[in-house]
Amino acid sequence: MIEENKKIVDNFGRAHTYLRISLTDRCNLRCFYCMPEEGIELIEKPNIMSLEEIIALAGKFRDLGVDTIRLTGGEPLVRKNFGYLVEELAKLGVTLKITTNGIMLDKYLDLFQKIGLRKINLSLDTLDKAKSVFITKRDYFERIMKNLEKALEMDMEVKLNIVLIKGVNDNEINDFIELTKHKNLTIKFIEFMPFKGNKWDWSKGVGKQEILDLISKRFGNIDELKNPPHSTSSNFKVDGHVGSFAIVSTITSPFCDECNRIRVTADGKMLNCLFANSETDLLTPLRNGEQMDDIIINAIKTKKYSRDGMDVKMDADHYEKNRSMISIGG
Ligand code: GTP
Ligand code: 5AD
Ligand code: SF4
Repeated sequence: MIEENKKIVDNFGRAHTYLRISLTDRCNLRCFYCMPEEGIELIEKPNIMSLEEIIALAGKFRDLGVDTIRLTGGEPLVRKNFGYLVEELAKLGVTLKITTNGIMLDKYLDLFQKIGLRKINLSLDTLDKAKSVFITKRDYFERIMKNLEKALEMDMEVKLNIVLIKGVNDNEINDFIELTKHKNLTIKFIEFMPFKGNKWDWSKGVGKQEILDLISKRFGNIDELKNPPHSTSSNFKVDGHVGSFAIVSTITSPFCDECNRIRVTADGKMLNCLFANSETDLLTPLRNGEQMDDIIINAIKTKKYSRDGMDVKMDADHYEKNRSMISIGG
């Protein structure tokens, strides 16, 4: 049992039990909605948390009540010695999850099975090869599709992440839903969100209601599923389909009330929110051997209620000060 004063609780009484760790800001793709066209200033190697530092920090969070850790990037699987890291993290006894672009997934599926990592979110914005090359600026489509099939064959819990952009992939919404007819996976449609340098403009976005209308027009009855606690998406199923679908409606209908998420970047900065533009340095005190508990517990007290204070609308003066998505990890 963790004592009440040793939990990570914000000023709104929300206990934070879900940590997203970005293992690297490097990626083998260049998706335009995530990576600014001009690239980003990469974190210098000495400032990147070592594997041992990641393991130590994850352990501190576990001791403060974190029970779920999602590994993100950039692309987490390009991190050197990723296999060792994930095996060590599995020993913490938390639920481990990963968000990946799938390119290197085949290399790790057996290990994931061995250590019990079953929840894999895979970015796949299109089912069309040419469009995939346009979005990602790289040519890995077939490899990703093959790895997706492998993961499903191994009974992994797969969610496909689709960032919807008008005129790019919004005409594929129902093709993705078609996949749920016989495949046991979740299709997660994500409203396009603003981060530094990604040229966000909501007129390019596709909102939750529009997505639901398109799907019900084609497939008829949609059942709304019960959302798990702290969910950041609404969840649905087309009548008779094996798989389900979800919508992350951060722009048109945010779900911050029950937020329980903390992020740590690859350079060891704690973010209280996906849209936070203030950070708490955890790496320096960790390297100095300082007591970390109070630093973490105090940091969460500055968390705002919703979208880091952008309660009514997304404000460019705010989000342009944030990191680019590639170095937050989603
Ligand atoms: P689960 O752990 O299965 O709930 O996954 P997830 O959907 O939270 O994680 P994933 O890494 O697959 O991210 C999918 C989309 O959800 C990305 O666009 C993320 O930016 C977004 N997302 C993840 N966490 C949050 C959050 O705390 N707030 C908001 N607004 N969006 C989030
Ligand atoms: N808006 C919404 N989602 C995004 N992602 C990356 N950039 C954006 C954005 N601008 C999603 C990708 C990836 C996840 C971690 O974040 O789908 O799978
Ligand atoms: Fe939590 Fe911020 Fe996401 Fe809202 S936008 S759910 S407060 S991380």
